[in-house]
Amino acid sequence: MDAKEIKQGRIYSELSHLIRLISPPEEYEEEAAHWCGVLRDKLGQGRHTILELGVGGGHNLSHLTFEFDAVAVDISEAMLKECRKLNPGVELHLGDMRSVRLGKKFAAVLIHDAINYMLNEADLLAAFKTAAAHLNPGGIFITSPERFVETLLLPSVEHATHLNGETQLTYVEYTYDPGRKDSTVETIMFYLIHRPGGLRIEKDRHVTGVFNRETWFRLMEEAGFSVEVRSYELKNWNRPYELFIGVLR
Ligand SMILES: C[S@@+](CC[C@H](N)C(=O)[O-])C[C@H]1O[C@@H](n2cnc3c(N)ncnc32)[C@H](O)[C@@H]1O
Repeated sequence: MDAKEIKQGRIYSELSHLIRLISPPEEYEEEAAHWCGVLRDKLGQGRHTILELGVGGGHNLSHLTFEFDAVAVDISEAMLKECRKLNPGVELHLGDMRSVRLGKKFAAVLIHDAINYMLNEADLLAAFKTAAAHLNPGGIFITSPERFVETLLLPSVEHATHLNGETQLTYVEYTYDPGRKDSTVETIMFYLIHRPGGLRIEKDRHVTGVFNRETWFRLMEEAGFSVEVRSYELKNWNRPYELFIGVLR
Protein backbone atom coordinates (compact mmCIF):
# COMPACT_ATOMS: atom_id res chain seq x y z
CA MET A 1 0.00 0.00 0.00
CA ASP A 2 1.34 3.46 -0.89
CA ALA A 3 1.40 5.94 2.03
CA LYS A 4 -0.56 8.41 -0.13
CA GLU A 5 -3.53 6.04 0.01
CA ILE A 6 -3.84 6.60 3.78
CA LYS A 7 -6.41 9.30 4.47
CA GLN A 8 -5.00 12.36 6.29
CA GLY A 9 -5.94 13.67 9.74
CA ARG A 10 -8.43 10.93 10.67
CA ILE A 11 -7.78 11.49 14.39
CA TYR A 12 -9.31 14.97 14.00
CA SER A 13 -12.40 13.65 12.20
CA GLU A 14 -13.85 10.14 12.22
CA LEU A 15 -11.41 8.85 14.90
CA SER A 16 -11.67 11.87 17.21
CA HIS A 17 -13.28 9.70 19.93
CA LEU A 18 -9.82 8.09 20.39
CA ILE A 19 -8.02 11.35 21.15
CA ARG A 20 -8.05 11.01 24.95
CA LEU A 21 -6.65 7.47 24.72
CA ILE A 22 -3.88 8.59 22.38
CA SER A 23 -2.83 11.60 24.44
CA PRO A 24 -4.43 11.48 27.91
CA PRO A 25 -5.09 15.01 29.26
CA GLU A 26 -3.42 14.16 32.60
CA GLU A 27 -0.11 13.70 30.77
CA TYR A 28 -0.09 17.43 29.92
CA GLU A 29 0.19 18.59 33.50
CA GLU A 30 3.97 19.09 33.53
CA GLU A 31 3.99 20.88 30.17
CA ALA A 32 1.02 23.08 31.02
CA ALA A 33 2.76 24.15 34.23
CA HIS A 34 5.46 25.82 32.10
CA TRP A 35 2.84 27.63 29.97
CA CYS A 36 1.16 28.75 33.18
CA GLY A 37 4.50 29.92 34.57
CA VAL A 38 5.15 32.10 31.50
CA LEU A 39 1.62 33.52 31.60
CA ARG A 40 1.93 34.39 35.29
CA ASP A 41 5.41 35.81 34.80
CA LYS A 42 4.32 38.04 31.91
CA LEU A 43 0.78 38.94 32.94
CA GLY A 44 1.00 38.96 36.72
CA GLN A 45 -1.73 37.81 39.07
CA GLY A 46 -5.44 37.98 38.17
CA ARG A 47 -7.90 36.03 36.04
CA HIS A 48 -6.72 37.04 32.57
CA THR A 49 -8.39 36.07 29.30
CA ILE A 50 -6.52 33.74 26.96
CA LEU A 51 -7.20 32.52 23.42
CA GLU A 52 -5.94 29.19 22.13
CA LEU A 53 -5.78 28.63 18.36
CA GLY A 54 -5.91 24.98 17.20
CA VAL A 55 -7.12 23.80 20.61
CA GLY A 56 -7.77 20.17 19.60
CA GLY A 57 -9.19 18.24 22.55
CA GLY A 58 -8.02 21.03 24.85
CA HIS A 59 -5.74 18.72 26.84
CA ASN A 60 -3.06 21.32 27.56
CA LEU A 61 -5.73 23.98 28.05
CA SER A 62 -7.57 21.85 30.62
CA HIS A 63 -4.71 22.57 33.05
CA LEU A 64 -4.95 26.35 32.54
CA THR A 65 -8.67 26.98 32.89
CA PHE A 66 -8.52 26.94 36.70
CA GLU A 67 -6.55 30.17 36.53
CA PHE A 68 -7.53 31.83 33.23
CA ASP A 69 -10.73 32.53 31.27
CA ALA A 70 -10.30 30.82 27.93
CA VAL A 71 -11.70 31.10 24.41
CA ALA A 72 -10.56 28.60 21.80
CA VAL A 73 -10.64 27.98 18.05
CA ASP A 74 -10.19 24.83 15.97
CA ILE A 75 -10.70 24.01 12.31
CA SER A 76 -12.35 20.68 13.18
CA GLU A 77 -15.91 20.44 14.46
CA ALA A 78 -15.16 16.93 15.81
CA MET A 79 -12.26 18.25 17.90
CA LEU A 80 -14.36 21.12 19.23
CA LYS A 81 -16.86 18.49 20.38
CA GLU A 82 -14.08 16.64 22.26
CA CYS A 83 -12.80 19.91 23.70
CA ARG A 84 -16.29 20.85 24.92
CA LYS A 85 -16.53 17.60 26.94
CA LEU A 86 -13.22 18.28 28.72
CA ASN A 87 -13.52 22.08 28.99
CA PRO A 88 -17.23 22.89 29.40
CA GLY A 89 -16.53 26.47 30.49
CA VAL A 90 -14.51 27.44 27.42
CA GLU A 91 -16.10 29.47 24.60
CA LEU A 92 -15.37 27.60 21.36
CA HIS A 93 -15.30 28.79 17.74
CA LEU A 94 -14.87 26.95 14.47
CA GLY A 95 -12.13 28.67 12.47
CA ASP A 96 -8.78 28.55 10.74
CA MET A 97 -5.86 29.96 12.73
CA ARG A 98 -4.52 31.54 9.55
CA SER A 99 -7.55 33.73 9.02
CA VAL A 100 -9.97 33.72 11.98
CA ARG A 101 -10.81 37.12 13.51
CA LEU A 102 -13.01 37.03 16.61
CA GLY A 103 -13.21 40.81 16.92
CA LYS A 104 -11.92 40.65 20.53
CA LYS A 105 -8.56 41.14 22.23
CA PHE A 106 -7.03 38.86 24.85
CA ALA A 107 -4.21 39.13 27.39
CA ALA A 108 -2.47 36.19 25.70
CA VAL A 109 -2.78 33.96 22.64
CA LEU A 110 -1.51 30.37 22.71
CA ILE A 111 -0.77 28.01 19.84
CA HIS A 112 0.36 24.69 21.24
CA ASP A 113 1.34 21.79 18.94
CA ALA A 114 -1.31 22.76 16.35
CA ILE A 115 1.34 25.14 14.97
CA ASN A 116 2.89 22.02 13.38
CA TYR A 117 0.10 22.11 10.81
CA MET A 118 1.43 25.31 9.26
CA LEU A 119 3.09 23.88 6.17
CA ASN A 120 4.89 26.84 4.63
CA GLU A 121 6.16 30.27 5.63
CA ALA A 122 3.00 32.01 4.41
CA ASP A 123 0.85 29.80 6.70
CA LEU A 124 3.16 30.31 9.67
CA LEU A 125 3.18 34.07 9.21
CA ALA A 126 -0.61 34.12 8.80
CA ALA A 127 -1.02 32.24 12.11
CA PHE A 128 1.34 34.67 13.87
CA LYS A 129 -0.64 37.60 12.41
CA THR A 130 -3.87 36.06 13.74
CA ALA A 131 -2.26 35.92 17.20
CA ALA A 132 -1.19 39.58 16.88
CA ALA A 133 -4.68 40.63 15.72
CA HIS A 134 -6.12 39.34 19.03
CA LEU A 135 -3.67 41.19 21.30
CA ASN A 136 -3.11 44.77 22.39
CA PRO A 137 0.47 46.09 22.41
CA GLY A 138 2.28 44.36 25.29
CA GLY A 139 0.10 41.26 24.84
CA ILE A 140 1.71 37.82 24.96
CA PHE A 141 1.87 35.10 22.34
CA ILE A 142 3.21 31.64 23.26
CA THR A 143 3.92 28.80 20.87
CA SER A 144 6.07 25.66 20.94
CA PRO A 145 7.93 24.56 17.81
CA GLU A 146 8.50 20.80 17.91
CA ARG A 147 11.06 20.36 15.14
CA PHE A 148 13.69 22.53 13.46
CA VAL A 149 15.44 21.84 10.15
CA GLU A 150 18.84 22.14 11.90
CA THR A 151 18.19 19.32 14.37
CA LEU A 152 15.83 17.12 12.36
CA LEU A 153 16.76 13.43 12.61
CA LEU A 154 14.56 11.25 10.42
CA PRO A 155 13.09 8.75 10.37
CA SER A 156 11.89 8.85 13.96
CA VAL A 157 9.61 6.38 15.71
CA GLU A 158 7.55 6.94 18.83
CA HIS A 159 5.04 4.72 20.54
CA ALA A 160 2.94 4.61 23.69
CA THR A 161 0.20 2.51 25.25
CA HIS A 162 -2.73 3.83 27.24
CA LEU A 163 -5.58 2.05 28.96
CA ASN A 164 -9.13 3.18 29.58
CA GLY A 165 -11.49 0.61 31.08
CA GLU A 166 -11.33 -2.42 28.82
CA THR A 167 -9.81 -0.55 25.89
CA GLN A 168 -6.05 -0.52 25.49
CA LEU A 169 -4.69 1.70 22.73
CA THR A 170 -1.13 1.54 21.44
CA TYR A 171 0.00 4.01 18.84
CA VAL A 172 3.09 3.74 16.70
CA GLU A 173 4.16 6.93 14.96
CA TYR A 174 6.69 6.94 12.12
CA THR A 175 7.89 10.33 10.87
CA TYR A 176 9.89 10.47 7.64
CA ASP A 177 10.90 12.81 4.88
CA PRO A 178 8.91 11.86 1.77
CA GLY A 179 11.36 13.92 -0.31
CA ARG A 180 8.95 16.66 -1.31
CA LYS A 181 11.72 19.28 -1.21
CA ASP A 182 9.41 21.65 0.63
CA SER A 183 9.07 22.56 4.32
CA THR A 184 7.05 19.47 5.25
CA VAL A 185 7.53 16.02 6.74
CA GLU A 186 5.02 13.22 6.98
CA THR A 187 3.94 11.05 9.93
CA ILE A 188 2.24 7.70 9.52
CA MET A 189 0.28 6.59 12.59
CA PHE A 190 -0.94 3.13 13.49
CA TYR A 191 -3.56 2.93 16.22
CA LEU A 192 -3.78 -0.59 17.67
CA ILE A 193 -7.03 -0.74 19.61
CA HIS A 194 -7.27 -3.80 21.81
CA ARG A 195 -10.69 -4.56 23.29
CA PRO A 196 -12.04 -7.82 24.74
CA GLY A 197 -13.53 -8.63 21.31
CA GLY A 198 -10.18 -8.41 19.49
CA LEU A 199 -7.59 -6.07 18.01
CA ARG A 200 -8.56 -3.34 15.56
CA ILE A 201 -5.92 -1.44 13.57
CA GLU A 202 -6.47 2.06 12.15
CA LYS A 203 -4.05 4.06 10.04
CA ASP A 204 -3.65 7.79 9.82
CA ARG A 205 -1.37 10.28 8.03
CA HIS A 206 -0.26 13.77 9.07
CA VAL A 207 1.70 16.29 7.03
CA THR A 208 3.41 18.92 9.17
CA GLY A 209 5.77 21.86 8.65
CA VAL A 210 9.44 22.10 9.64
CA PHE A 211 11.36 25.40 9.54
CA ASN A 212 14.75 26.81 10.52
CA ARG A 213 14.99 28.46 13.92
CA GLU A 214 15.80 31.70 12.12
CA THR A 215 12.54 31.44 10.16
CA TRP A 216 10.50 31.25 13.40
CA PHE A 217 12.23 34.34 14.78
CA ARG A 218 11.99 36.25 11.49
CA LEU A 219 8.28 35.56 10.96
CA MET A 220 7.32 36.27 14.58
CA GLU A 221 9.20 39.58 14.32
CA GLU A 222 7.46 40.32 11.01
CA ALA A 223 4.08 39.76 12.69
CA GLY A 224 5.02 42.43 15.25
CA PHE A 225 6.51 40.42 18.15
CA SER A 226 9.71 40.78 20.16
CA VAL A 227 10.75 37.19 20.72
CA GLU A 228 12.35 35.31 23.61
CA VAL A 229 12.84 31.57 24.09
CA ARG A 230 12.61 29.52 27.28
CA SER A 231 13.87 25.92 27.42
CA TYR A 232 12.69 23.21 29.74
CA GLU A 233 13.32 19.56 30.47
CA LEU A 234 10.19 17.43 30.28
CA LYS A 235 10.16 13.97 31.88
CA ASN A 236 8.94 12.02 28.84
CA TRP A 237 10.41 14.26 26.17
CA ASN A 238 13.67 13.15 24.59
CA ARG A 239 14.67 16.63 23.35
CA PRO A 240 14.69 20.13 24.81
CA TYR A 241 11.21 21.55 25.15
CA GLU A 242 11.08 25.19 24.13
CA LEU A 243 8.49 27.90 24.37
CA PHE A 244 8.76 30.79 21.92
CA ILE A 245 7.29 33.85 23.60
CA GLY A 246 6.32 36.92 21.63
CA VAL A 247 5.50 40.28 23.20
CA LEU A 248 3.47 42.45 20.79
CA ARG A 249 5.31 45.69 20.11
C1 LIG B 1 -2.43 18.05 18.04
S1 LIG B 1 -4.02 18.77 18.00
C2 LIG B 1 -3.95 19.95 19.30
C3 LIG B 1 -3.95 19.31 20.64
C4 LIG B 1 -3.93 20.32 21.77
N1 LIG B 1 -2.66 21.02 21.80
C5 LIG B 1 -4.22 19.70 23.12
O1 LIG B 1 -3.48 19.98 24.08
O2 LIG B 1 -5.21 18.96 23.22
C6 LIG B 1 -3.91 19.81 16.60
C7 LIG B 1 -5.20 20.54 16.29
O3 LIG B 1 -4.91 21.55 15.32
C8 LIG B 1 -6.08 21.72 14.56
N2 LIG B 1 -5.72 22.47 13.35
C9 LIG B 1 -4.96 22.06 12.31
N3 LIG B 1 -4.87 23.05 11.40
C10 LIG B 1 -5.57 24.11 11.88
C11 LIG B 1 -5.85 25.42 11.42
N4 LIG B 1 -5.40 25.84 10.23
N5 LIG B 1 -6.62 26.23 12.18
C12 LIG B 1 -7.12 25.81 13.38
N6 LIG B 1 -6.90 24.57 13.87
C13 LIG B 1 -6.13 23.74 13.14
C14 LIG B 1 -6.55 20.29 14.32
O4 LIG B 1 -7.90 20.25 13.92
C15 LIG B 1 -6.29 19.67 15.69
O5 LIG B 1 -7.43 19.73 16.48
